[in-house]
Formats: sequence, structure tokens, C-alpha cells
Amino acid sequence: MSDNQASLTAGGKSLDMPIKSGTIGPDVIDIRKLYAQTGMFTYDPGFTSTASCDSALTYIDGDEGVLLHRGYPIGQLAEHSSFMEVSYLLLNGELPSQQELADFSRTITRHTMLHEQLSTFYRGFRRDAHPMAIMCGVVGALSAFYHDSTDISDPQHRKISSHRLIAKMPTIAAMAYKYSVGQPFVYPDNKLSYTGNFLKMTFGVPAEEYEVIPEVEKALDRIFILHADHEQNASTSTVRLAGSSGANPFACIAAGIACLWGPAHGGANEAALNMLKEIGTPDRIQHYIERAKDKNDPFRLMGFGHRVYKNYDPRATVMQQTVREVFAALNVQDPLFETALRLEEIALSDPYFIEKKLFPNVDFYSGIILSAIGFPTTMFTVLFALARTVGWVAQWNEMISDPGQKIGRPRQLYTGPTQRDYVPLSQR
Ligand code: CMC
Repeated sequence: MSDNQASLTAGGKSLDMPIKSGTIGPDVIDIRKLYAQTGMFTYDPGFTSTASCDSALTYIDGDEGVLLHRGYPIGQLAEHSSFMEVSYLLLNGELPSQQELADFSRTITRHTMLHEQLSTFYRGFRRDAHPMAIMCGVVGALSAFYHDSTDISDPQHRKISSHRLIAKMPTIAAMAYKYSVGQPFVYPDNKLSYTGNFLKMTFGVPAEEYEVIPEVEKALDRIFILHADHEQNASTSTVRLAGSSGANPFACIAAGIACLWGPAHGGANEAALNMLKEIGTPDRIQHYIERAKDKNDPFRLMGFGHRVYKNYDPRATVMQQTVREVFAALNVQDPLFETALRLEEIALSDPYFIEKKLFPNVDFYSGIILSAIGFPTTMFTVLFALARTVGWVAQWNEMISDPGQKIGRPRQLYTGPTQRDYVPLSQR
């Protein structure tokens, strides 16, 4: 056996399997011939040890708390870059020149309007519908409105649909909010930045001038950067799996939105703020820490723990700094921030959390900022979806452009009944 091969003996057969190396990160054992040569599958529910694809987009070192987009550390991007620039980077692999960034931003801006008929689509929803339900429906419906960019074998179609999705997501999200509060939809304003435009479409009203507060615009843009991509997480894997069948990109992103909604994933930002509200004051923290540790209690600290990070989530560090900046800009305070800081402190010195390596993740502080800006909790996951769209789209493009791409089709360990004969109804 050579150094770059792993050997396995199973079912009386032995097999040498190639070990593949990426540019950084753990090597992988290529098991693709396993079934053909041994008649066995691997078993890894939850994909804890399975690499599902090659990807050159995002790298995470969970033990060290490192997150790189196309090689650039998230902290540097959050401090120096913009969401538009990070979007270009994720889609194209390199940071843009000034001209490339200007051209890209202009292209995205020109796609921000929605087909007018889509506004009537909203009226089919109840006013109290969760905005994520609206997002799933409206984004899925885009394929019915933009037929001219659904031929996935055409790179130009893929490019246009990618631009449309990134550009229209803020408009769709803001309209979901407007619908829930009974205010008129606000059309995009092409003078504004991507994030400024979203703020105006969300909080502006036709009766008044809306002025974007630069500090808030910057903070929200940074939050978008922090959520832009995160390698093969559940929703991204959903987008890839949906896309692997050849489904159109609008349908695939709608599938990603549906997956993101869950409280173990993007829904955790809403759940984390609700949890902080329920805890209320620091004197009640210990009770909730005990509940989180109790195996008979389903309660978990929301915004804590991560499948990959076994160290502080680097996005949570930036998020915590951003809370202070937004409070200063808006001249507000939120006692829940003190509760959150104290909760973090208590959890990080508790043997349960230390042993299990549970740290605050991106969702722990984000709700406090979004709430200070004025977003209701139900919009938090919508903002995550808005920002993650570029990651989903970039990952979908990477997959579709791969000539070796195959439909995703996991196998299973069957535990149901063995074959038996049908019993007529009269005899049961
Ligand atoms: N509070 C209390 N205990 C926890 C928590 C928590 N938040 N997270 C994990 N644990 C315990 C869990 O009970 C288990 O204990 P044991 O080994 O004794 O059974 C151990 O830690 C490992 O947990 P797991 O559920 O097997 O780990 P996982 O990798 O399958 O789940 C997770 C990761 C993020 C779903 C989980 O940590 C969790 O539910 N966190 C709360 C929800 C949350 O904040 N999600 C946002 C993730 S970051 C944003 C995103 O990517 O969407």
C-alpha cells in the first residue's frame, strides 16, 4: 500500500482506496469504488465524516476558529470589504478591480426590481404568515416568471439567474416584511447601495423621505458578509442536492431557504433572541444553564454550539463588536446584551460547555443588532437567507460547471420488514 492509499478489509475482501488531499484541511478517503468492490456502503447519518464534494469556495478550520472565503479570512473581509465585493469574490474566485466591482454592482442594481405581477402573488398569503414561508413560496415562484434564465446548461443563463437571485432577494424580503405590517411595497432605489436599498425598502414609506443611517448600513452590510457562505452546511447541501437533479436555480434556492428555516440552522438567530427574552435578567441565567445541561430537558442554549466550530466562531467575535457600534450609532441600549454577555461568560466557564466545546456561534449576538435596527424577530432568518443566497448561488454554479457532476443519491441501512405477501383487507 502506498502512502496515499487507505486499505480496508470488509466482508472477506480487501480494498485499497486513494487518499485525496485538498490545499488545506483534512485529507479524504475516496470510497467511490467501495460498493462495487465489497458490496457494502459506508454509514454516516448527519454526514459527520463525509465530504460530499470538491469545493474551492470556503474553508473552515473548526478547531482553530478559522473561516476563509477564497483564502481571505472572514475578519479581514468584515473589516475592509463590502457585501458586493465579497459576493463578487465568492462568485468569481478573485477580488474585483475597481472597474469590475463597479460593473458588478451596477449589474446587480439593475436586477433589483421584481416582475410587477409578483406583488399580487403576496396577497395570497395571510398577513400573519411567517416571512420565511413567504420567502419559500415567492423565491420558488421566480422560475415561473424568469423562464429566460432557467437553461442550466447555458453559462449565460446561469450567470443571469445568479445575478437575479442576489439582486431580487432584498426586494422579496422587504416586501415580505411590508406585507406583514400592512404598509405599501417600496420599489428599489438604484441610487442606493445594496444594503442601503434594502433598508429603505424595509423601513421607508412613500409618505416620507427615508434617510439611510451610514453606521447602520455598514453594520448590516457586515452582517451580510458574515452570513455570505459557510461551506457544506445543511442548506447549501440542500441547494446542491436539489441542483444535482438539474432543477432550475430558483427552485434550488427555494429548497435552501426551506432548510435554513429550521432552528438548528438559520432559525437559531430568531430562537436565540427569543431565548434571551425568556431568560430576561442575568440572575435567571443559571437556571437555563442547568436546563441546557439536563439530558431530560429538550432545551438547548440557542446560538451556542456548532457542528464544525469547536472553538469561538470567528463570526460571533465580529458580531459582538458590531452590537456596540450599532448601539453607539443609534444611541440605544438593550439590557439583553448584558444578559447575553453574562450568559456567554457563565457557559464558557462551565465544565459541560468546556468539555463539549460549545461556544457562541454567529446567531448568538446577531438578533440583538437586528432588533436594535428595528427588525422583528421573524425577519432574522430572512436576513440570513438574503445574505446566504450568494453562497448558495456560488456553490450551485461550482457544482453545475463541474464536468464530473452526478445526481446526489445517498444509500441507506434498511431496517424495515423483509419481503412479505399482501393480505387482502377482508382478512385483516
Ligand atoms: N446547548 C446545550 N447542549 C448542546 C448544545 C447547546 N446549544 N449544542 C450541542 N449540545 C450538546 C448535545 O446535547 C450533545 O451532547 P451529548 O454528546 O452529551 O449527547 C453534544 O453537545 C453534541 O451536540 P450534537 O447535537 O451532537 O452536535 P451537532 O454537531 O449535531 O449539532 C448544532 C450542532 C449547531 C445543531 C447544535 O450545537 C445546536 O443545536 N445548537 C443550538 C442551535 C444553534 O445555535 N444553531 C445555529 C448553528 S450556527 C448557524 C448555522 O450554521 O446555521
